[in-house]
Amino acid sequence: MEIFRTVRLLRAWSRAAHKEEKIVGLVPTMGALHAGHASLIRAARSRCDLVAVSIFVNPTQFGPSEDYARYPRTFDADCAMAQAEGADVIFAPSVEEMYPDGATTFVDVEDLSNRLDGQSRPGHFRGVATVVTKLFVTAEADFAFFGQKDAAQVSVLRRMTADLRLSTEIVVCPIVREADGLALSSRNVYLSAQQRRQALALSRALGVVESLAGRGRRDREELIEAARAVLGAEPEVRVDYLALVDWATLLPVETAARGALFAVAAWVGETRLIDNTILS
Ligand code: PAF
Repeated sequence: MEIFRTVRLLRAWSRAAHKEEKIVGLVPTMGALHAGHASLIRAARSRCDLVAVSIFVNPTQFGPSEDYARYPRTFDADCAMAQAEGADVIFAPSVEEMYPDGATTFVDVEDLSNRLDGQSRPGHFRGVATVVTKLFVTAEADFAFFGQKDAAQVSVLRRMTADLRLSTEIVVCPIVREADGLALSSRNVYLSAQQRRQALALSRALGVVESLAGRGRRDREELIEAARAVLGAEPEVRVDYLALVDWATLLPVETAARGALFAVAAWVGETRLIDNTILS
């Protein structure tokens, strides 16, 4: 497995691969890899001839009071996991490599970027869209793999890819959970044992919503209130948002039709977690 630190090297590698008619996959990450990322690398491996994993903690997607400085950085362990899962290349650029000369060009997916996490974290999706555009035009990948856990991010990136007519196709992979239901996240390491127990309320709330919807109870407010009651039972859990939306537009829908996204964001102590389900 090779480690590239520059845009020039990754682009040259991808172009050489395409010359040999190889299909190139990209798994964009901020490192601190866990089993969720491993599943993305495996999905890329099964669909592509060559796989690059990017590891870059992107400063522009963090707000001034967010956890950029303390975001977990576990580069050696990340490389070991990526290699074990069959990655061919790690792309690990510096901030200066991705934002040369204090770059002032940003990608803003209007409207969508201000919904769900974008509403709670102003500027977050502008940072995500900007760095993912840079990754796409650098890696020139045929496919890029993202997790459904970041469902709003997926909507923003699908829209961005369509609007900019980028040639990388987005593949969305299922949420990976611990045995007790907690969705895997690099931020789970911030939780104390007690907070981790309380964080299970997120997946429990989604389970209640799925079960109500399965029994034909599809009214938005009823589903949101049922989820709120589950979360409200945990003293350290504070709801950021509960939303039933169309997954493409992130706009609220009145009833939980098939394919609607039910999403939750909540603070557990100081840690903000997200989770969701696509209703069937
Ligand atoms: O989902 C993430 O880890 C990040 O938002 C991404 C897509 C790697 C962009 O920094």
